[in-house]
Amino acid sequence: MNDLMEKIVSLCKRRGFVYPSSEIYGGFANIYDFGPLGSLLAKNIRDVWIKKMVQEKNDMYLIDGSILMHPKAWEASGHTVAFTDPLIQCQGCKKRFRADKLKDWKLEKDNKTGKWNILKQGSLICPDCKGKLIPEIKEFNLLMTTDIGSIEGEKTKVYLKGESCQNIYLNFLPIRDTMGAKIPFGVAQIGKAFRNEITLGKFLFKVREFEQMDIEYFYSPEQAKKLYEEWKNIRFNWYIDTIGLSKSRLRWRQHSPEERIFYARDAWDIEYKFFDEFEELEGVHDRSDYDLKQHGKFSGKTLDYFDPVSKTRFIPNIIECSGGLQRTFLAVLAESYREEEVNDGKRVFLKIKPTLSPYKVAVFPLVANKENLVEKAKDVFDLLKPEFMTMWDSIGNIGKRYRRQDEIGTPWCITIDYQTLEDNTVTIRDRDTMKQQRIKIEEIIKWIKEQLNV
Ligand code: GAP
Repeated sequence: MNDLMEKIVSLCKRRGFVYPSSEIYGGFANIYDFGPLGSLLAKNIRDVWIKKMVQEKNDMYLIDGSILMHPKAWEASGHTVAFTDPLIQCQGCKKRFRADKLKDWKLEKDNKTGKWNILKQGSLICPDCKGKLIPEIKEFNLLMTTDIGSIEGEKTKVYLKGESCQNIYLNFLPIRDTMGAKIPFGVAQIGKAFRNEITLGKFLFKVREFEQMDIEYFYSPEQAKKLYEEWKNIRFNWYIDTIGLSKSRLRWRQHSPEERIFYARDAWDIEYKFFDEFEELEGVHDRSDYDLKQHGKFSGKTLDYFDPVSKTRFIPNIIECSGGLQRTFLAVLAESYREEEVNDGKRVFLKIKPTLSPYKVAVFPLVANKENLVEKAKDVFDLLKPEFMTMWDSIGNIGKRYRRQDEIGTPWCITIDYQTLEDNTVTIRDRDTMKQQRIKIEEIIKWIKEQLNV
């Protein structure tokens, strides 16, 4: 594991950002829970995504679809046959690998059938135990299944969403009709996806249950190039301006013709240098009219659009922007983790954008055993709580309390001291500069709101 990743994994567990799922039962491989701080960070990421991609746009609608859908939807989308990875297994340790990711191997997938062809067979030595790999590739479908119904023998097999976006396509007609939506328009959704990934690891980067932040933008084919470039810019800049990732750690990667799915007009991924290498953060793909055509065919419904201006009827094309919540969360931590030598040793701090920080402010009485200070600090705490996620801390000396807040990315710490009792001012200390200033209690809320730009 990379040194930085190890530090982040440890901090996440120690400070309540992320816990391994079901740990008291020995854990559940590659499934994680967001803890109290992680839930807040994840919520803040979702909130700024919705704010920028829906609230501040004129042509975007938000939905929140169910996880279980009609099984035919997954046949129409091609997932039941083509959502496969090539699996190869070790004879000795029984470990499974993705053959297309092994050194020296070259494979090509037929995206219509899900079959994998070996273009070049590489080494058959197991990367883990150095035993022998069984020279046979199995097509491994990533969809997870469950069944629905109460009577044994009459249950129907259904799929957990392999990708979250599918119910956006299925809701195209009701959204068009109930919202009077005119093309071009888009639908946004943050939803769960489940995948039986073969190779896991890398903490939150590749997990079996995760959330996708999806935009499906419906447009007429003539508008393709212009809108695609617009969405590419919107999404790339969101990671810089709203999430705070540095431009130098982000890049675009275009899918090669062999990699690109057969119906896509063009496909680019936004990649981020999480640790040692650039890896996918989000896909921005022009999916042509494939999705609505397929669902139209399988459902027997006409999923087209009549344009009243050009008087033409067409099946809407789709630009999809699909990003991962867990990957964005991990990118925020990788970007913001800092270690710094200070007078009393080393401090670790998360230089997170304040809008994303789990707690915006912490309130401390200078000492915990002076009733009048504690009482005054409680008043300030009660004043701030309805406005911001506010933390109370009265344990240990002020320096230790600052360190605890630094480590979880709290941008501002407020201390109530003896001067507060005289003039109703407090000190407010900045996480990044560690500078303090005095401010009147009645001005704190306004001051924080100004910093947060809300
Ligand atoms: N609807 C398009 C789609 O599902 P994808 O490239 O498979 O495309 C989109 O997934 C995004 O979902 C990825 O860019 C990534 O951020 C996230 N993602 C995919 N698989 C993941 C996994 N196993 N664990 C965490 N995030 C994942």
